[in-house]
Amino acid sequence: MCVGLPLAIRAIPAMLGSLLNSFGWTLEENIAPKNLEEKFGLILAKSYPLRLVPIPLYSRRT
Ligand code: HEM
Repeated sequence: MCVGLPLAIRAIPAMLGSLLNSFGWTLEENIAPKNLEEKFGLILAKSYPLRLVPIPLYSRRT
């Protein structure tokens, strides 16, 4: 049993929310539709890794 589970359950959504809130996310340029395909297996996985470009929304630079 993982003793860090209660911490992880709270920390991971907070970290994910912070990333989603702090950056605008776009797909890499020239992405082909096949790059968004999925492949079946024991779990449903993406055929190709989803590569996103983070754009800072709240830059400290002026
Ligand atoms: C998504 C996050 C996490 C996942 C998926 C995860 C997964 C696991 C798994 C599968 C085990 C083995 C359980 C077993 O042997 O039955 C484990 C053990 C353990 N985890 Fe995690 N863990 C996570 C986060 C954390 C965090 C944040 C901490 C500490 C801050 C932590 C500390 C530990 C420790 C100390 C053990 C060994 C427990 C024992 O053998 O008694 N884990 N974890």
